[in-house]
Amino acid sequence: MGADQKNTIMDYDTVSLDEEQNAVVIIDQTLLPQTRKLISLKTAQEIWEAIYFLKVRGAPAIGVAAAYGIYVLTAGMPQDSFGEFYREFQRQKEYLDSARPTAVNLSWALNRMEQVCLAGRGLPVAEIRRRLREEAVSIQREDIEVCRAIGEFGLKLVKPGDGILTHCNAGKLAASRYGTATAPIYLGQERGYAFRVFADETRPLLQGARLTAYELCQSGVDVTLICDNMSALVMKKGWVNAVFVGCDRVAANGDAANKIGTSLAAAAARLYGVPFYVCAPTSTIDMATPTGEEIVIEERPAREVTDLWYTHSMAPKEVKVFNPAFDVTDHTLISGIVTEYGVVRAPYKEGFEKIFAAKQNGEKPGRQIL
Ligand code: MRU
Repeated sequence: MGADQKNTIMDYDTVSLDEEQNAVVIIDQTLLPQTRKLISLKTAQEIWEAIYFLKVRGAPAIGVAAAYGIYVLTAGMPQDSFGEFYREFQRQKEYLDSARPTAVNLSWALNRMEQVCLAGRGLPVAEIRRRLREEAVSIQREDIEVCRAIGEFGLKLVKPGDGILTHCNAGKLAASRYGTATAPIYLGQERGYAFRVFADETRPLLQGARLTAYELCQSGVDVTLICDNMSALVMKKGWVNAVFVGCDRVAANGDAANKIGTSLAAAAARLYGVPFYVCAPTSTIDMATPTGEEIVIEERPAREVTDLWYTHSMAPKEVKVFNPAFDVTDHTLISGIVTEYGVVRAPYKEGFEKIFAAKQNGEKPGRQIL
């Protein structure tokens, strides 16, 4: 679709590949909702910075950006010897992987690309590059399919007219289409479910206000923006029938890391008897991490809390600031983890093992395993 035909943010690709320019193209999410600007990323540093500064963000989207990114970078790698090509590939892969530690999709996508590279040993580098391009395209295509399946399973957990609360942005802007936590909302919208959505603004980077509320408004969904500290009140009032959130890494025991503040919403949901669902593609489930304790939580600069979005600082210069970007919701607070193979409920490890076995056997997203 040409720029002049794009009407809403939903018409934009979160991430795409510009073959002609050999660049990753993203919509700069730091400028939304005021400005819709597509930017082209060509160098390793540009890609790394786009991920670190959250120009592209959300677990699935950074996986897709990294996959296209490493493919784009292979054009500048030695083309005559596999050994030299692979050495450079590994160096750039590690660099991109270092941009953000918590979302497992970043290393998951880069590892998939590396496997393609290794499987091509002995082939001309041009052929390996062709396969790498194909793999990156598959990662993006699968994300769309997986999110749609999550949406179908999630939709069965709610009914028309329900109030749904979400935190941060696990929407289209965090993925390729549908999003994860928003997928049931978008599918419900297509089917006339008339949900009433509450979007937490999500301090300090306001992904809920700038991105989720924006996406949903532009899609005609009934959405009400609230500050993070208002979610307990709307739950107590009985306005929320379910909470749907995304996640950046789910440990084998079901503990789920997501945007800071998620665990507070989970605790309030438990207090007020509201079911709390984590929407997680299997790519976000990390069986190598036994519990949430082992998940590395990214810490970000103090100025995001004190200064960002304000014309002058909103805190004394000398104050200490703690700015973790994610928290871990204990599995005991989670009612179910909505995957592309169905809803996993406690005990999570057993459920995950079943869905990974099914995936290994070639079952397609949307097939209900549990
Ligand atoms: O720091 P961000 O904006 O990348 O954090 C994003 C989230 O926490 C999302 O909920 C998560 O990545 C899931 S996106 C489908």
